[in-house]
Formats: sequence, C-alpha cells, structure tokens
Amino acid sequence: MRILEPEHFEGARALVRRTWRVSYAHLFTPEEIAAFFEGPRPPRDPALVFWSVARWGAFLDGELVGSSSLEMRADGNAELRTLYVDPDVHGRGIGRALWDTAVDRARVEGADGFVVRVLERAEALGFYRHLGAEEITRGTLRVGARVAPTITLRLGLRPGV
Ligand SMILES: CC(C)(COP(=O)(O)OP(=O)(O)OC[C@H]1O[C@@H](n2cnc3c(N)ncnc32)[C@H](O)[C@@H]1OP(=O)(O)O)[C@@H](O)C(=O)NCCC(=O)NCCS
Repeated sequence: MRILEPEHFEGARALVRRTWRVSYAHLFTPEEIAAFFEGPRPPRDPALVFWSVARWGAFLDGELVGSSSLEMRADGNAELRTLYVDPDVHGRGIGRALWDTAVDRARVEGADGFVVRVLERAEALGFYRHLGAEEITRGTLRVGARVAPTITLRLGLRPGV
C-alpha cells in the first residue's frame, strides 16, 4: 500500500473505469458508464468543504490493482472516495487493506467519523457493512441518463460521536 504519485493517476482512473464496467454491469450500460466518465464531475454537496488528504494504491507484482482516496470535510468527518479493487483480485484482502489505511489516516487527521457513499445496488454495500459502517443518509447519483439510488454509511471514530 503506498501513496499514489501523479504519474499513477492515469492508471488509477483506468482501474476505476474498468472496475465500474465489470462490477456495475448489472446496473449501467457501457454507454451510461462512458457518459459518466467523460462528462462533467457530478456536483458535490455545497454545504461541505472538502480537501484532499491522500490517494493510495495497492500493487501486486508491480501492477496497480486497487486504489482509494480520502478527503476531510468541514463537518468533522473524513470521506473515503473511489475505493476500487481490480475485479480479478477481489476477495484477497486488498479492499480491507485500503479501508484500514484510510481509517487509520482519518484518525490521525482527528476526524470524528468516516463516511462513504455507495450505490444502493453495489455489492460493496455488504463490504462496508461487514466492516462496521452504518447507513446515515440516502441520495442519488446520475450516471448518463439514469439516476441511481445511493446510500451513505458512517463509521464512528470516537466514542459517542
Ligand atoms: C468492495 C470491494 C472494494 C471489496 O474489495 P475486496 O478486496 O474484494 O475485499 P476484501 O477481500 O478485502 O474483503 C474484506 C472483508 O470484507 C468481506 N467482503 C468483501 N466483499 C463483501 C461483500 N460484497 N459483502 C459482504 N462482505 C464482503 C470479505 O469477506 C472480507 O471479510 P473478512 O476479512 O472478515 O474475511 C471490491 O469488491 C470492489 O472494488 N468492488 C467494486 C467497486 C465498488 O463498488 N467499490 C466501492 C465504491 S463506493
């Protein structure tokens, strides 16, 4: 697991896109996925200020096979973004290692909680629940012409918060 440098960003974007095509094939057509990646970024919650903390990559035999990034939010939570593992190597502990790295860093940053937004029908929902995160809000994400329901989950990082 290591911090990704700018020279890896293109590879990380390709990994995310490939993972979408395989893992979300039951949710979106290839055209909808292409529209999502080639169109403007979806708007973020204007009530929250975000700043980037770090971006990590997981490597197997020198190949980038997983990535994630962490942002801090003005509401005191850290937000996990873009956690993706190459579908060829799912189930080998890479997702958990990326999750643990980001949670540890969120604690160091002094975050009260750790949040992540996931598509309601993505298998990753079970993964996040398995790791202890609980649903806090629901929303939507526009992917091409489709509007997909999302769930935001949170893991508390301090007792009582
Ligand atoms: C979700 C994802 C990141 C998990 O990564 P992974 O490397 O396959 O997961 P791991 O092997 O590290 O699994 C860690 C633990 O979670 C469990 N787990 C993994 N996927 C799970 C699922 N869908 N439901 C329930 N538990 C799950 C594993 O059994 C394992 O449990 P254990 O450590 O107690 O034995 C990966 O499947 C993925 O990239 N999915 C597609 C993209 C995606 O939807 N990303 C989320 C964007 S918000």
